[in-house]
Amino acid sequence: MSEEILRAEQVTYTYDPDETEPLFALTGVDLRVERGSFTAILGHNGCGKSTLAKHFNAILLPTGGTVLVDGIDTTDEEQRLQVRRTVGMVLQNPDNQLVSTIVEEDVAFGPENLGIPPKEIRARVDEALKTVGMYDYREHAAHKLSGGQKQRVAIAGILAMRPDCLVLDEPTAMLDPQGRREVMETIRRLNRENGMTVVLITQYMEEAVDADRIVVMEGGRILLDGTPREVFSQVPRLREVALDVPQPTELCFLLRQNGWPLRQDILTEEECVDALAALLEG
Ligand SMILES: Nc1ncnc2c1ncn2[C@@H]1O[C@H](COP(=O)(O)OP(=O)(O)OP(=O)(O)O)[C@@H](O)[C@H]1O
Ligand SMILES: [Mg+2]
Repeated sequence: MSEEILRAEQVTYTYDPDETEPLFALTGVDLRVERGSFTAILGHNGCGKSTLAKHFNAILLPTGGTVLVDGIDTTDEEQRLQVRRTVGMVLQNPDNQLVSTIVEEDVAFGPENLGIPPKEIRARVDEALKTVGMYDYREHAAHKLSGGQKQRVAIAGILAMRPDCLVLDEPTAMLDPQGRREVMETIRRLNRENGMTVVLITQYMEEAVDADRIVVMEGGRILLDGTPREVFSQVPRLREVALDVPQPTELCFLLRQNGWPLRQDILTEEECVDALAALLEG
């Protein structure tokens, strides 16, 4: 077990390698992800987030450069299964990820395919459903669940395969606010309590605030990489690449532009309120 679970080194990728002048979706990505960490990846449409994510469980193989998953080169065909066991992918649309009509059968599908013995599958399914708070629904019809519940069942299906790392590609994009909250609480808990490595691609700034680290992509490469405070304090640069910042950060930025002496690294409503109160009292 290495401390570094994912590593991309100078990764380039094109979807049309046979063209004389192919377009590159990734143009030289270097990224290392520590085991147990929570990384959020941001960037506007088409910047290469999903393409990068698909490299981490060998759905795509790099055109140039190297991707290592727990030290295994993803181009090594003999170890492909090990790579797929290490990194579980959760996608945007829960409906495309559910394969069975009954919740517990759906969660059992992945471990069945791995050839896990039935008794062990039972235990894994129950554990995974409890982890995402869907155990009471184990005998329910999957298609009747809400979007947030379906996405939690999809996550349970991945967890039942016992991955070391979850890569989630905009898992809340199709959910209502309640569903988004449920799924984000589940993701946070998996990271903090179960020590799961999480890579979350999201378009919601408030989801990225909870990460240990934010990576901003632009034009197939990494533009910014740092803690949420470090990244979100760079309001003008984020705006250049059509990204927002959390509302409290934005408010303080605008006030600062108008001469109010406020810190650059305010992230939460609470910090914003405290800073404004201190300023008004002073
Ligand atoms: N299957 C494909 N075939 C050809 N080009 C593709 C394919 N998938 C993506 N691309 C192109 O590769 C580039 C990166 O796309 P990608 O889907 O990785 O971006 P993204 O950051 O995930 O975007 P989004 O925010 O819309 O999900 C884009 O220019 C896109 O048009
Ligand atoms: Mg995408």
